[in-house]
Amino acid sequence: MKREQWGSRAGFILAAVGSAIGLGNIWRFPYMAYENGGGAFFIPYLFAMITAGIPFMILEFSMGQKYRGSAPKTLSRIHQKFEWLGWFQVGVAAVIAVYYVAVIGWAISYFSMSFSQSWGTDTNAFFFGEYLQLGGDNSPTSLGSIQWKIAGAMLIAWAITYAAIVGGVKAGIERASKIMMPVLFVMVILLIARMVFLPGALDGVNYMFEPDFSKIWDVKVWAAAYGQIFFTLSIGFAIMLAYSSYLPEKSDITNNAFMTVLLNCGFSILSGIMIFSVLGYMAQEQGKELTDVVSAGVGLAFVTLPAAINLLPAPYILGPLFFFALVVAGLSSHISIMEAVTSAVIDKMKWSRKKAANIVIGVGFVVSMAFATNGGLLLLDLVDHFANNIGIVAGGFVEILLMAWMLKKVPEVREYVNAISDFRISRWFDVCLLVITPVILAIILSTKIHTLLTEGYGGYNLTLGWVMIAVLFIFGVIINVTSRKEY
Ligand code: ALA
Repeated sequence: MKREQWGSRAGFILAAVGSAIGLGNIWRFPYMAYENGGGAFFIPYLFAMITAGIPFMILEFSMGQKYRGSAPKTLSRIHQKFEWLGWFQVGVAAVIAVYYVAVIGWAISYFSMSFSQSWGTDTNAFFFGEYLQLGGDNSPTSLGSIQWKIAGAMLIAWAITYAAIVGGVKAGIERASKIMMPVLFVMVILLIARMVFLPGALDGVNYMFEPDFSKIWDVKVWAAAYGQIFFTLSIGFAIMLAYSSYLPEKSDITNNAFMTVLLNCGFSILSGIMIFSVLGYMAQEQGKELTDVVSAGVGLAFVTLPAAINLLPAPYILGPLFFFALVVAGLSSHISIMEAVTSAVIDKMKWSRKKAANIVIGVGFVVSMAFATNGGLLLLDLVDHFANNIGIVAGGFVEILLMAWMLKKVPEVREYVNAISDFRISRWFDVCLLVITPVILAIILSTKIHTLLTEGYGGYNLTLGWVMIAVLFIFGVIINVTSRKEY
């Protein structure tokens, strides 16, 4: 069967940017920057973007385009013994997809509430109590019952993802991206244009950019920056391999990769400016320090921002605009995460797209209901932590070791992309992929595993997180070993 293809170069770039720009930019990036010392986060973030983000994007685009397959297919074509790595990455994507959709569901609910700000004045009590109905025992495994309003919102998100995936690469995903991305850009530009002129906004923005050099040697800040770069660029977990497998043979890899990375990271900075402007305004309105008005983590978008929206002029316009932007950004990424999984199933089982989508999205929907329960938020926190810090980083690390050290393919990739791209990349590409990125990833990964084993995370019982990683690994190995079918 002939592989599907993007209809145009712009279509591919919009889809890749749509995948990259997501909750990671609007929901996760600002609180990552905040929790890691504001401006101090920027140096490792930019360093990670240049030394890992861009080279890795070029690498994945070239792998997908050359070997024309989803992650397991591409990796098995590169080295038959490494199909498992593709399945591990697909597993990580599947895990992310089922909780990611919960956050989109919250954003859909908040969008509908934002017209009248029906979250009230105590946005903290509202979010955790009334909305999530969070269970009381700080255990991610006592789920309680499903909250139907959250489940309903998640169903809407699943339906849109399903429609895009069933529609196929060109008529579904590309078309959705062509609608969603321009809408998202216009909304965010409108929001920024209003927010930066609020009184106190610049204090907020300054906070985000002011470097705190005392944190620059903290491995945790570097781990957060690298983890964020892989997550936000959708690299290391099967997505960009799948998307680039639909590229035509003569595609400008380097230019496409630069554009995707720069648009994504530029967008993160813009949404950071937007959010910190609002926080600065809120601090000024309440006569407090910025650090006293912010609740970090998940709460930034669903606790602090609703409280800030209450104080804004014309909240019934700015509120819906913000949450709609969050929904659109989230959906275009969710589509790509599910495509990474669906395309792997299509390649392996030779099923029709429709059959694969029915099964993959059907199962995804059922599993995702765990995140609509009373324990959903805690489960999400735990699963997100392991998926990002261990799953993505380990998947990316092994991929780099395979390509750069075991198979020594980096110079070959450089020559391959130089032959089909407009501008040439130099040997810095080799240095980044052979030395800088693997060394930093090894430090980050080992430090993280050590921290999890010695200090734990969030006071939770971490068994579930470790079991999840082990299951994904074993699942990949079993498929690899038992696989008789050639791709
Ligand atoms: N790259 C996607 C995001 O940042 C997954 O949300």
